Amino acid sequence: AVDLRGRSFLKELDHSPAEWAALLDLAARLKAEHRAGRPRRRLEGRAVALLFEKTSTRTRAAFELAAAGQGATSTYLDPAGSHLGHKESVEDTGRVLGRLYDGIEYRGADQATVELLAAVSGVPVWNGLTDDWHPTQSLCDALTTREHVRKPFSETTFAYLGDGRGNVAASLLAMAALTGMDARVVAPAGLQPAPAVLDAVRAVAAGTGATLSVTDDVAEGVRGADVVHTDVWVSLGEPPETWDERIPLLAPYRVDAGVLAATGNPDVRFMHCLPAFHDLGTGVGRAVHERHGLTEMEVTDEVFRGPASVVWDQAENRRWTIEAVMVATLAGLDA
Ligand code: CP
Repeated sequence: AVDLRGRSFLKELDHSPAEWAALLDLAARLKAEHRAGRPRRRLEGRAVALLFEKTSTRTRAAFELAAAGQGATSTYLDPAGSHLGHKESVEDTGRVLGRLYDGIEYRGADQATVELLAAVSGVPVWNGLTDDWHPTQSLCDALTTREHVRKPFSETTFAYLGDGRGNVAASLLAMAALTGMDARVVAPAGLQPAPAVLDAVRAVAAGTGATLSVTDDVAEGVRGADVVHTDVWVSLGEPPETWDERIPLLAPYRVDAGVLAATGNPDVRFMHCLPAFHDLGTGVGRAVHERHGLTEMEVTDEVFRGPASVVWDQAENRRWTIEAVMVATLAGLDA
């Protein structure tokens, strides 16, 4: 039987397909319970630390709500609100938080930091995003796919368009490998997933029947897709100066109505892990966009707000999947 009590959630590939499926089932159960108005409090009396070295809206809100919803208390430690990385080592911080809390969420740049926290703290540690992996996002995306694509994962085709070198592309490939999907990363040469990532996810895919491919050809990559997913063209914390080289390469990979039509699937769904720079309303990097003559970024507003878009369901599912990870690792899948 699958038992995740005491385990950390650091990256997808630490988990078996059965564990992944159990987390998805639990997330769906927690969501249904909440909708039915009969929530249970499986984490009563527990306390969790939420350690953020990078900013967040969804991940922080989801962890705080999930903890409160299950009866746990949480402490948010923001980038300026702890000594981590300034006055205290990761190891010492991990040991202290492990004495005070039952679980620790960490968001920051280095995967090594979240791994070290897990190694020294003695409590479950959850990766809320590093430069390498974003596993709570890919678990959410799997749940959202399950809700909207009414086919088994083994018959589902998932296409990710954009920069293939980032944490979201890597995590989606890992999620697809664990669930047995046909997943394609559609990205220009030079912005495709690292060979080490492809080797790791393909090793898992060999056991699940997943098909994982990389192409720079948009039409080929999205053909038959049930889901088209994209992300911002610049990751959290990257200075706008670095955008100049990338934007001309990525512009042909913008998700627009033509890309959705090229899937040939009238029921195709559009996903975005958010935040989106689909328009320039946020003012983020406005000068860079304007230098390249762009008025829209990774997705057109028409698609983002159109009938194929499930981005708000996806954002809500951060709560239920994060809650599932916390419940499974602290109280158990059957608590
Ligand atoms: N998708 C995601 O991780 O959102 P936040 O950066 O707002 O947490």
